[in-house]
Amino acid sequence: MFRKIAISAVSALVMGAGSAYAAGGGGHVTDVPFSFEGPFGTYDEHQLQRGLQVYTEVCSACHGMKFVPIRTLGDVGGPHLPEDQVRAYAAEFTVTDAETGEDRPGKPTDHFPHSGLPNAPDLSLMAKARAGFHGPYGLGINQLFKGIGGPEYIYSVLAHYEENPDCAPDGVDGFYYNTAFSAGGVPDSCKDEHGVSTVPGTWIAMPPPLSDGLVEYQDGHEASLHHMAEDVSAFLMWAAEPKMMARKQAGFTAVIFLTILSVLLYLTNKRIWSAVKGPKKKHV
Ligand code: HEC
Repeated sequence: MFRKIAISAVSALVMGAGSAYAAGGGGHVTDVPFSFEGPFGTYDEHQLQRGLQVYTEVCSACHGMKFVPIRTLGDVGGPHLPEDQVRAYAAEFTVTDAETGEDRPGKPTDHFPHSGLPNAPDLSLMAKARAGFHGPYGLGINQLFKGIGGPEYIYSVLAHYEENPDCAPDGVDGFYYNTAFSAGGVPDSCKDEHGVSTVPGTWIAMPPPLSDGLVEYQDGHEASLHHMAEDVSAFLMWAAEPKMMARKQAGFTAVIFLTILSVLLYLTNKRIWSAVKGPKKKHV
């Protein structure tokens, strides 16, 4: 019986791993050392503010963030904008009031708008919806060490647009070659006889949104493509998980509490049983 279970478990594992490997022809994702990684990592307020600027000036032309309330921009642990700036930011939008049906300037209690382009996905939860790290062989062991890699994935999509590869020098009409994006299509000329892609990444419908110096950071930070991609990815991680720091803190407190409790229980247990077990006898 046990042997049967063991054999089927092993074969399921091998088959699962095999198919995942075949499916994930896979884009290349760069590991970025973000400030919020690790058990004590925290969001960098200034980076989130720069990311908000990139989102506002560039990405929001096509993408929305309809699940994120604008008031959270003032949160401690988030971008932490002063209240008047949050109000001014909200007022930039025109919102159709749900009660009166009339247009009015946005308020901090409103959410960010929907995507402007129908085929541009909402970015509220993108950093948690995409995994950057898989493998090896679909086992997900990389995720154990590097995390899921959502912000790294977004960074890589933004930073890894490349020239069309030799197998498709003219590219695909209306699409752009991106070595990190794995959910798009690949022209037949870049597939082998089994229909498997011979190039990393796929073609994406988003035109390369960033280029060096596209925004002007107020804090003097250099607005290179890579910095902007990092900042906006960190911002989108915060948008998807604004309470990450509180969660880590609660987890840490729980670990300390459980450690103390375990020590106390161990000592109590020893004491209760000492009457039965008696003092340790010495062997002479
Ligand atoms: C000109 C419009 C446009 C702009 C500007 C734009 N995007 Fe996109 N974006 C798109 C479209 C369209 C898609 C869908 C692409 C597809 O599925 O092929 C997309 C897809 C994405 C995806 C999803 C990739 C996936 O795995 O499905 C991410 C992440 C993303 N954009 C982030 C950004 C960020 C961050 C910015 C700002 C720096 C930005 N985009 C600016 C149009 C845009």
